[in-house]
Amino acid sequence: MDHQSVPLPLGFSQCTKEKDDFKRLLCEINTLKEAGEIVTSYPPRTFKPYTAHHWTILKLIFLKMYVRDVYTPIIGRRYPFMVFIDPFAGTGLNTYKEAKIYIPGSTLIAWFFATFPFDKVYAIGYEDIDYRVLKLRLERYIPPSKLWIAKGDANILIDQITKDIREMKEKFGGAHFLAFIDPECFEAQWQMIEKLIELENYGISGDFIILLQSRLIARTIGRIRSGEKIDTKIIDLFFGTKEWTFLIDLPSGELEKGIMDFYLERLKELKSRALIEVISIELFRAIHYHLIYLTRKTKRKSPYLATVRWLKDFVENAEKRYVDRAIRVALGMEKMIDDYLRKQ
Ligand SMILES: C[S@@+](CC[C@H](N)C(=O)[O-])C[C@H]1O[C@@H](n2cnc3c(N)ncnc32)[C@H](O)[C@@H]1O
Repeated sequence: MDHQSVPLPLGFSQCTKEKDDFKRLLCEINTLKEAGEIVTSYPPRTFKPYTAHHWTILKLIFLKMYVRDVYTPIIGRRYPFMVFIDPFAGTGLNTYKEAKIYIPGSTLIAWFFATFPFDKVYAIGYEDIDYRVLKLRLERYIPPSKLWIAKGDANILIDQITKDIREMKEKFGGAHFLAFIDPECFEAQWQMIEKLIELENYGISGDFIILLQSRLIARTIGRIRSGEKIDTKIIDLFFGTKEWTFLIDLPSGELEKGIMDFYLERLKELKSRALIEVISIELFRAIHYHLIYLTRKTKRKSPYLATVRWLKDFVENAEKRYVDRAIRVALGMEKMIDDYLRKQ
């Protein structure tokens, strides 16, 4: 199928001009919804969207803003080859348990909202049907020469991706990647992260946005503590070591933080000059997940950081004060009565 040019000017968003945080958040969600409407036109929307909880929109808002406002404007100018890696690409379309609105999958968000276009996009679909619809959706918008898509286990296919990026770097004289690691829980094995970071040995750096499901992981570890028999091999593979078992003895209240600290320590050991920011996605005071942003310190003051911290503050503060309401309004569950509602 021929790809289509995107019918809306999605790359540059008017939302960046909105000064009011609540309206800005609404605007970011609404442009995602507009993009979702475009994606649902083919294949039809009833065709296997990935169904998530409403708070997962936040990871996609972060991805959208980072790609649009930070990553592609900087990297697109500096590197001859810029790629997006999406090992857990899902089905290319998301919908929500709480309301039937549609948001493009992460691969299409990166593609649509890039200020400078990616030179190549790598995406993996896991199961037969997911892969089929993902492929249809991505091929609709991304030209074949810029799309690498495969079906199967990201932990295995990562070797093909890193090999291809190394070849692209040789061909174009430089390459840089953004990897969005978005598993449901334990699926992103440590060796996969390691292989991406080891591209540095070939002169290829990358930024990472990693979703750490600290709460779900804590739940599993809690079950082990209470004596349930669980095959711990997936946890060994997830952390890339058996040393995680000390977490079993942590008091429940410290477990989520313990998991996060241990994972961050492992990342710092692996990536030289690691620069890390953690964005906590919480609604109603319960942490639902953490987004780990990982990049490399540069000699110059990192141009990324100010903007990423701003995004972090925006998402975290917006979240505490506004996010639930903004999402509800965007989902059509509540009407916006502007300032009146916000002051309540
Ligand atoms: C949270 S969803 C991804 C959503 C997607 N990133 C988005 O935002 O649109 C995680 C996806 O990874 C898939 N998955 C699970 N295990 C996988 C594996 N080993 N390799 C690749 N994908 C996997 C799941 O089937 C699911 O579709």
